[in-house]
Amino acid sequence: MEPHTFVLFGATGDLAKRKIYPALYNLFIDGKLPQAFSLVGLGRREWTDESFQANVEKSLYQFSRRVTNDVASIKRFLSAFRYSVLDIGHKDDYQKLKQLIEQREAELHIPSNRLFYLSVGPEYFDTIAANIQDSGLGSVNGWKRLIIEKPFGHDLTTARELNQKLSKAFEEQEIFRIDHYLGKPMVQKLESLQQGNPVIQALWSNRYIANVQITANESVGVEERAGYYDHVGAVRDMFQNHMLQLLMMTAIHLPHNSTSDKVRFKKKKVMEALVPLQKEDVGIHVIRGQYTEGNVQGKPVIGYTSEPGIAPASMNDTFIAAKLQIDSNSWRGVPFYIRTGKRLKEKSTRIVIEFKEPIQHDTAMNEEPIAPNLLVFEINPNERITLQLNSKEIGHNGAFKPVHIDLHKSEEDSPEAYENLIYDALHGDSTFFAHWDELELSWNWVEPILNAFEENLVPLHPYAAGTYGPAESDALLAKDGYHWWFDVKQEQNNESNEGELYEYHTNY
Ligand code: BG6
Repeated sequence: MEPHTFVLFGATGDLAKRKIYPALYNLFIDGKLPQAFSLVGLGRREWTDESFQANVEKSLYQFSRRVTNDVASIKRFLSAFRYSVLDIGHKDDYQKLKQLIEQREAELHIPSNRLFYLSVGPEYFDTIAANIQDSGLGSVNGWKRLIIEKPFGHDLTTARELNQKLSKAFEEQEIFRIDHYLGKPMVQKLESLQQGNPVIQALWSNRYIANVQITANESVGVEERAGYYDHVGAVRDMFQNHMLQLLMMTAIHLPHNSTSDKVRFKKKKVMEALVPLQKEDVGIHVIRGQYTEGNVQGKPVIGYTSEPGIAPASMNDTFIAAKLQIDSNSWRGVPFYIRTGKRLKEKSTRIVIEFKEPIQHDTAMNEEPIAPNLLVFEINPNERITLQLNSKEIGHNGAFKPVHIDLHKSEEDSPEAYENLIYDALHGDSTFFAHWDELELSWNWVEPILNAFEENLVPLHPYAAGTYGPAESDALLAKDGYHWWFDVKQEQNNESNEGELYEYHTNY
C-alpha cells in the first residue's frame, strides 16, 4: 500500500471511536498499513496530540476485536496520530491543516496521497468538500480520495444536489461511499462463491431459482435516534441503501476476473432492470408497518409512538416488506422479497435463495412433499452459508429429510466491515462501495414509495414488538405460494448439533 495521510473529520466522534480507530489498528497489527502512515484527526474540541492519542488508545481497549499486549506496538501505532482543531466553516482552519499535513509529509518523506474521511453529519459534506478544494488541500501530487457515509441525500433531488456539490471537488472514482453492509464478510463471500464456482453460476437464474428473500430484522428499537429516525423510517434508513445493495449483490453475475468497474456496471444494470412501481400501486407490492408495545426477548417494550422524541401521531414506518421484480433475461419471473424492521423477534440478516421444484408431486399417490433446496447466507449474527438438500436413508423406507451442508462457517476473528472497507479505499478499490449511478437509480426507484407513504396511500400496519412484523408481510409471499424462511434452531445452533438434520419452519 502506498504511504498516505488519513485526514479524519469528526475525530472525536462516536463512529471514529467505535469503528474507525479499531479498524485501523487491526489493519496495523496485520501489517496492512504502510510503514510511513500519518493520520490527522480533526474536531472542534481543544485536544492536543497527546490527549488525542490517549483517547484513541482508550477506544482500542474498549472497541477493538483484538488488542495486543505489545505496548511498544500500540505506541508505534499511536505515534502516527496528530490532532488539529477545525471548525468546518472556518477557512483559516483548513490552511492550518494544510500546513500540518505538508509538514508531516515532509517529515515522513511521503508523497501527497490524501484520504479525506468525513465522519460527520451529512449536512457538512458539501462545505468540507468545497473547503478541501478551495484551500488547496485537494491539490496533490499523488492521489486524493473521499470517504463518506450514508445518508446520501433524503430523496432523489437532494441526493443529486449533494452529488453535484461533491463532484466539484472530487471525481466519481475518487469518492468512496460506505454502505457498511457491503463490507460484511458474508456479503463479500456471496460474490466470491459465485465467482469461483461454475456450478453456482449455472444455477444463478430464473431457470432454477424460484424466489430470493432478503431479510434484515432487528430487535432494537429507535434507541437514542428518535429525531433522525422519525424523519427517515425503515425505507430510507435501511431499504433504499443496505437492502437494495444486497439485492444488487445477489442479482449480479460475476465471472471470476471481474474488476470493480465491472461490478459497478453490473449493479447499475440490475437497478435499471428493476420494474418501477407506480405511486398508486405501491400498496400492492409494499407493506408498511409500525411497532406497538410488546415483548422482545422476554422484556416488555413500549410502542414506537410512545418512544421519547417520537410524535404521538407519527405515521413513520419501522417496518417495510416489498416484492421486487427484475426485468432481465436472467431474473424475469423471480420475485425478490425484501423485509426489514425494528423491534422484531430477533436480530437476523440473511439472504435465502429458494430453488425451483421442477418435478410435480403426485398428491393422489400420497407422496410426501419434499422441502425445496435452499442456499442460505446468514450475515448476522451468525456468519455461515448453508445449502439445504434432501436426503433419505436407503433401506429405511423413510421420507426425504432436509440436510444442511455448511459451505462456510464463520471464522474466528474475521475482520470487521470497516476493516475491509477502509483497506479497500486505501487501495483505491471501489468494488464494495456504493457508486453514484446505482445510488441515483435506487433513489429513483424508491421515490414512488416515499411519496405513497407521505400521502398515506399505503396502510400503516401495526405489529406487536417481538413478532416478525405485520401478518400482511407473510401474505405478500403467500399470494405467490411462498413463505418467509427462517431457522428456528438458529439460536440453539452450536458445535454439538452442527451438521445435524433440522427442519426449517415458517413463521406463519
Ligand atoms: C444502520 C441503520 O445503517 O444500520 C441502523 O442506520 C441499523 O438503524 C444498522 O440499526 C444495522 O446495521 P447492522 O450492521 O447492525 O445490521
